[in-house]
Amino acid sequence: MPLRRSTALVKWLFENQHKFQIGRACSSSLRYKEQEEAEPAAAPAKPRPDLTPDLSFRFEDLQVKLAAPYQLQPKPEAQDLGFGKFFTDHMLKVHYHQHLGGWQKPEIIPLENLSIHPAAKALHYAIQLFEGMKAYRGIDDKIRLFRPDLNMERMNLSAQRSGLPQFDGAELIKCIARLVQIDQEWVPHSESSTMYIRPTFIGMEPTFGVMAPDSALLFVILSPVSVYYKSDDDSGVSMYADPSVVRAFPGGAGNRKVGSNYGPTIEVTAKAAKLGYHQVLWLFGPDHELTEVGAMNIFMVYVNEQGEKTLATPPLNGLILPGVTRRSVLELASQWEDITVAEEVITMDRVIQLNKSGRLLEMFGAGTAVGISPIGKIGFMEKEIHIPTTKQQQPVFQRVKDTLLAIQYGHVEHPFATVIS
Ligand SMILES: Cc1ncc(COP(=O)(O)O)c(C=O)c1O
Repeated sequence: MPLRRSTALVKWLFENQHKFQIGRACSSSLRYKEQEEAEPAAAPAKPRPDLTPDLSFRFEDLQVKLAAPYQLQPKPEAQDLGFGKFFTDHMLKVHYHQHLGGWQKPEIIPLENLSIHPAAKALHYAIQLFEGMKAYRGIDDKIRLFRPDLNMERMNLSAQRSGLPQFDGAELIKCIARLVQIDQEWVPHSESSTMYIRPTFIGMEPTFGVMAPDSALLFVILSPVSVYYKSDDDSGVSMYADPSVVRAFPGGAGNRKVGSNYGPTIEVTAKAAKLGYHQVLWLFGPDHELTEVGAMNIFMVYVNEQGEKTLATPPLNGLILPGVTRRSVLELASQWEDITVAEEVITMDRVIQLNKSGRLLEMFGAGTAVGISPIGKIGFMEKEIHIPTTKQQQPVFQRVKDTLLAIQYGHVEHPFATVIS
């Protein structure tokens, strides 16, 4: 063979060696039995011509596969629940594949582990989001959701921000309601516990480009829960305010419920716990504006310059998650004649001055997971500020809490609650 031809052949072999399976050894010392261990090739899924990426999945397409008796888990005692430690027997899954026409049929199946490619975008660039909702078993034994339409609205906004496809929130609510009905025996028979609902949406495309994924998975899991955290004293929870860290910044995604807002809070939350505080009070800017507390929106009750009792919370300026509870508190309290409701900037200076003059009455956090949580103390710049939240005769936080619980547990009929079972 002339030298030039054999060099060309060697070059060709070198460039094409990946195409030859025979004799390729695994780089590990353990030989990989490719043939034996390979998954049987899945039959290619048929595209659904009636779906386009812009349209939603539909409840009417829901397929249900119930768990076999041996797959059913024992239900924990109410006192052991904690927060998000136990999961029910079923889950909801909806796949999105652009090349198959977009959204696929939703399915309820026995709870299972996910199979995910290690290059999936959710794992690398946090192209993912989640929601937090609850199902409450009322005094009439009916199960209710609380304003689920607002969670769906927020979920679609988070999806938009992360390049994940939109969907019809009303269709997802119907699928979630069916899931809760199937696992309804898991909804605690108690007014101190609930069923936490965790819709989650992750980018599945296994490629490294930082761009919108062409495949995604929306799933919903359910967890019976009791208290989010325990406060041992009745003076309320304590907050650690560290001006050197921020949760969100202008133009960022603090107003969206994306996982990337939460992972980076762990270090300072752990520091707060080490210093003896329950949660972090998130500040922003040179004036130390209060934005949120832990995973809750913040409220303050004070007597204003005109002598009016005022319930205030910072405005939705892009740094703050638009909480379903926050909005509900504002809407409910604006009906009360004895209190003025305000969305206004609250700085640490203002808190300190109001507290010094005796006009600061209460501070509390509000969110689905924790509920209404009275704040008793703030650690800020080496000082401790004591808030008389739980010392009030008729605290506003208690009235807000009672009003919300009455709606959620069906003590009163209210449009905020939707009976699903
Ligand atoms: C950062 C943050 N703020 C506020 C809230 C409260 O929102 P919601 O009332 O919708 O639960 C949450 C919980 O979702 C949160 O994670």
